[in-house]
Amino acid sequence: MSQAWVILSGKGGVGKSMVTSSLALALARRDMKCCCVDADMGLRSLDMLYNMHNKVVYDALDVARKDCKIKYALIPHTLHEGLSLLPASQLGDVSDMDADDMDRIVKKLKKRAGYVFLDAPAGIGRGVKNLLSAADHSILVTTADDIAIRDAERVIALLEESGKSRPMLIVNRVIPEMVLSGEMYSPQVVAATLDVPLLGCIPDDRAVLAAVNQHESFMERTCPAQAAIDRIAQRFLGDSIPMPVFEPKKRGLFRWKKPNGISLT
Ligand SMILES: Nc1ncnc2c1ncn2[C@@H]1O[C@H](COP(=O)(O)OP(=O)(O)OP(=O)(O)O)[C@@H](O)[C@H]1O
Ligand SMILES: [Mg+2]
Repeated sequence: MSQAWVILSGKGGVGKSMVTSSLALALARRDMKCCCVDADMGLRSLDMLYNMHNKVVYDALDVARKDCKIKYALIPHTLHEGLSLLPASQLGDVSDMDADDMDRIVKKLKKRAGYVFLDAPAGIGRGVKNLLSAADHSILVTTADDIAIRDAERVIALLEESGKSRPMLIVNRVIPEMVLSGEMYSPQVVAATLDVPLLGCIPDDRAVLAAVNQHESFMERTCPAQAAIDRIAQRFLGDSIPMPVFEPKKRGLFRWKKPNGISLT
């Protein structure tokens, strides 16, 4: 049975598109058929993150307006068979599509892929509300700071009002040294504050931006963020992968460790 997941955040720029693109890629590598929908109307980014921006001809708005069939708008990933992208319109805005349009599109995509990921705009506006009925489940992305956490609470409230189940949480841009020195909340504290299950955490990793700037995905590299996304993908599929915990090293310096003592970085 295919599933549609919407990737949400309260605050903008916390890593929704990064999570959407890399989690779908990690699943595609495990032979899952995945389709990403860039649902950030007017502000698309997944085409760039997948380095497929030169291949966009039609987009989700063309499909919604019935100007083209969905198969012509879907772009297959260059490297990973089984992964495809439905780009957002770069010119349209949120008022050009409604919840019914999105429902229809997602229903069609669920016939083609086991997992459909909807990369939402930030916040709790109409663009997000339009996605909720089409989605079976949600992932909430936040950074570990008070502003992002407070905004994430608004998203959780919106999900509750809409009769949706609680989201899974990903805490992004974690800086272990700051957690250990008490300058940043741990992912576990963020999850407890929001009262949602923790799917994983991703370290702040310069390889993420470096890869984008070189028109690559950090998932093609060996780096802490890639390892974190791989663990998240395994948990997403139901594997029991321990969550990183932060422990002081004996001689003063710190490292990020699994509970069994194997360093994750
Ligand atoms: N773990 C990370 N380490 C380093 N940089 C990161 C990480 N995650 C995201 N970034 C960077 O943060 C920026 C914002 O990420 P992204 O576009 O995925 O956020 P977003 O939530 O989708 O933003 P928007 O709300 O505008 O859609 C990008 O430049 C991205 O490369
Ligand atoms: Mg985005």
